[in-house]
Amino acid sequence: RQARVTLSNHLPVGEVDPRLYGSFLEHLGRAVYTGVFEPGHPAADADGLRTDVLALVRELGTTMVRYPGGNFVSGYRWEDGVGPREDRPRRLDLAWRSVEPNTFGLGEFMRFTQVAGLEPMMAVNLGTRGIEAACDLLEYSNHPGGTALSDLRRAHGDPDPYGIRLWCLGNEMDGPWQIGDKTAQEYGRLAGQTARAMRMIDPDLQLVACGSSGRSMPTFGEWEATVLEHTYDAVDFISCHSYYQEFDGDVDSFLASAADMESFIEGTVATCDYVKAKRKSSKSIQISFDEWNVWYMHDSPHPTPEPWTEAPRLLEDVYSVTDAVVFGSLLIAMLRHCDRVTAACLAQLVNVIAPIMTEPGGPAWRQTTFYPFAQAARYGRGQVLRLAIDSPTYDTAKHGTVPVLHATAVTGEDGVTTLFAVNRDTDRPLKLVVDLRELAPPDGPAHHSALADPDRHARNTSAEPDRVTPRQLSGAVIEGGTLRATLPPLSWNTIRLS
Ligand code: AHR
Repeated sequence: RQARVTLSNHLPVGEVDPRLYGSFLEHLGRAVYTGVFEPGHPAADADGLRTDVLALVRELGTTMVRYPGGNFVSGYRWEDGVGPREDRPRRLDLAWRSVEPNTFGLGEFMRFTQVAGLEPMMAVNLGTRGIEAACDLLEYSNHPGGTALSDLRRAHGDPDPYGIRLWCLGNEMDGPWQIGDKTAQEYGRLAGQTARAMRMIDPDLQLVACGSSGRSMPTFGEWEATVLEHTYDAVDFISCHSYYQEFDGDVDSFLASAADMESFIEGTVATCDYVKAKRKSSKSIQISFDEWNVWYMHDSPHPTPEPWTEAPRLLEDVYSVTDAVVFGSLLIAMLRHCDRVTAACLAQLVNVIAPIMTEPGGPAWRQTTFYPFAQAARYGRGQVLRLAIDSPTYDTAKHGTVPVLHATAVTGEDGVTTLFAVNRDTDRPLKLVVDLRELAPPDGPAHHSALADPDRHARNTSAEPDRVTPRQLSGAVIEGGTLRATLPPLSWNTIRLS
């Protein structure tokens, strides 16, 4: 089996925004408590941050982190998480049926972003709260001083404003599971009013309106159009959220999940541009794909831990090789649309549907999905090229006929082009012939790394943390402007053309 690809450096798709490699830290399960924050752990720093986790976060290469939710934010009072720890209230978290001790809050989160070198992306509660609480949080965070709330931050030990630029106006407000969910009219009006008030405090903000919680939502399309009618001039982004899983052993459909993601992106762009045309606006709304991942949601529907506990084990999916290949394909889908997807968050970062896992008091390790993210975040910076792909196809029950090869290529500032490619064939290798004449690369071997395994269900666990890692393959060669390589069955591949 063979696929032919032509790479062109004329008319690139666009420049990758580093925010495409964002992640997500929600007060959910063990993401915060015993995930990033565990005072008393042997590797904890003076602030209780786990330095072993921080090292993996840096290695992952994520650039940004969304906080504090997620469903959690729609019932959250940000004031509970600031000030002396001994005075902070314990509260019921209704979203995840947990007890929230509030020993980690805004100040601890900002310290985490600073130590990890991440841009913060903050969400405000538009479920149980509204304009006033959002403005208070913004004033506490970004106003230099001389007002009650900014001076409170200073009294809490942070003299300098946090300078948070990117803000989400609520979370998944179209979802009936969301605390305080709303119709598009209700949400659009509230989001527009909140955005305009927040801009009065800080005109340089970048704001994200909630789009659909999934392409399968019955209101998809209509929701975006209505919300943008209310918010178009006041926001910069609209969000997309999407999770995928293998159903009933239908691995062929699962491997084609990115086809759904690409349709979701294209449908959202079309709706944004419909509103743009109607308003005769010169401004284009960008997409913040601020929740995406593989998640076995339907195997473990939102759990109801009994009794109410702190940091219960929730959503601790253990990812296989197959999951990592689909995950890589989702990254390819976003890169192929980098002209409009200019922010994205892998949901989530630690323990909760995450690339990094920990045990309380114990080790931290990398899941299979860690590797495609780390490679894309490292080499997928620069210009995304246009690819002409001639690939064998196969039929799927859920996504129609799809190409066996899913690929993109990115040329970095160092001039080196990296090809990211997924072979969706579970049984057969795929020969790749890539016409690179426009790039004029020198003859020689190319660096080919592949994540694949004879056991497609292989996983990493605390007992065997390095069971699955990418392997260097020999055999990828550039000769006379043509790259030839072989992609193993069911594989994620990173090929550096240098
Ligand atoms: O990421 C897990 C949950 O998925 C988030 O809290 C919510 O926004 C989405 O439904």
